[in-house]
Amino acid sequence: MTKTDTDYSLYIHIPWCVKKCPYCDFNSHEKRDDYDEEAYIDALIRDLKTETPKVKHRTLKSIFIGGGTPSLFSAKSIGRILSQVDQHLSVTNNVEITLEANPGAFEAEKFKTFRQTGINRLSIGIQSFNDHHLKVLGRIHNSEKAHRAINMAQDAGFEKINLDLMFGLPEQTVEQAVQDIKHALSYQTGHLSHYQLTLEKNTIFYKYPPTLPVDDQIWKMQTECQNKISDQLSQYEVSAYAAEQQQSKHNVNYWQFGDYIGIGAGAHGKLTNSHGEISRYWKKKQPREYMNTAGKPECIGGENTVIESELPFEFMMNALRLKSGFTLQQFTQRTQLHASTIEPTLAILIDKQLLKLHNSFYRSTNQGWNFLNNTLEHFLPTE
Ligand SMILES: C[S@@+](CC[C@H](N)C(=O)[O-])C[C@H]1O[C@@H](n2cnc3c(N)ncnc32)[C@H](O)[C@@H]1O
Ligand code: SF4
Repeated sequence: MTKTDTDYSLYIHIPWCVKKCPYCDFNSHEKRDDYDEEAYIDALIRDLKTETPKVKHRTLKSIFIGGGTPSLFSAKSIGRILSQVDQHLSVTNNVEITLEANPGAFEAEKFKTFRQTGINRLSIGIQSFNDHHLKVLGRIHNSEKAHRAINMAQDAGFEKINLDLMFGLPEQTVEQAVQDIKHALSYQTGHLSHYQLTLEKNTIFYKYPPTLPVDDQIWKMQTECQNKISDQLSQYEVSAYAAEQQQSKHNVNYWQFGDYIGIGAGAHGKLTNSHGEISRYWKKKQPREYMNTAGKPECIGGENTVIESELPFEFMMNALRLKSGFTLQQFTQRTQLHASTIEPTLAILIDKQLLKLHNSFYRSTNQGWNFLNNTLEHFLPTE
């Protein structure tokens, strides 16, 4: 493997929340009897030790502590797992360490102490600054708490802060969506994630669908919000916008089809072995089952090897999300496949004006960007 291929990322999953939101299909569970912070960190440490041999001689470049609601945990607990990571893995000097925080689940002091544990990037789940929409979304915070959380994060000295916003909310108007963007931009945090609300299976919203804005309205919302955001930030992925030097290294690694290991309930990993074979694996999903098995082979919930014919699609599904696109060299480096595997398809897509080639980078045209699924279909295995 080449030098760049030896870098990888670490995902740490914290599976509890104060309350389950009606639209959320992440592996998150209401904090009930099975909630045990100490025991969970112990399990993460056992889990980490089983991952260590898989990444020998490789360098860790980013850590993402996601959930669930990781900000429910104390800084002491987060510090305990981070110091074990430092002890057992070879970590790059400027490692990016992100923690997901919920405006309704932390206090001022916690933010400062999170910063002291080495967390250097916060991702705050704002969703909206509108009290009515926050209520409809079943959030435990209101707009005042949303504003307060951002102020506190900035006061705590975080130079890298991401705000998550959703749009296309029940009965949301275009003006309301743009207003949310204006509030977010007023903090000049350097990173914004802007997701269209989707109705996911196994959620309350899927079972009892709320009235969502019609497609034309959503299209207008997206376009007007994007225009507003572009006053301050550049779009670098389908839903992500950043100032210079503020892109999420962790997410960019996913989109560049890089390797990562995952610890925690339901956490996923993807690794390339020395023969160039790529495998995916995931941990047991239920917190109790995870804690009981962490550190043992039974903790693996499943695994599979990505077969060669599926690699082009898997690579493109990630790489074409990035505005910058990809080079043929990156394709070969990440998949170990020869460029000739995809060159005929790339030529067809350029002909259809879904892709363009610029300075060795293949990237979506505006049309390709809007119809990404059409582009991706061309890379599906033919049997
Ligand atoms: C892993 S989630 C959780 C972050 C954190 N627990 C919170 O909710 O504040 C990351 C982000 O995904 C987005 N998200 C979750 N469910 C979604 C859905 N059904 N549609 C669109 N975006 C969603 C939200 O913006 C959320 O902040
Ligand atoms: S707080 Fe975040 S992870 Fe938890 S249920 Fe709500 S959206 Fe999902």
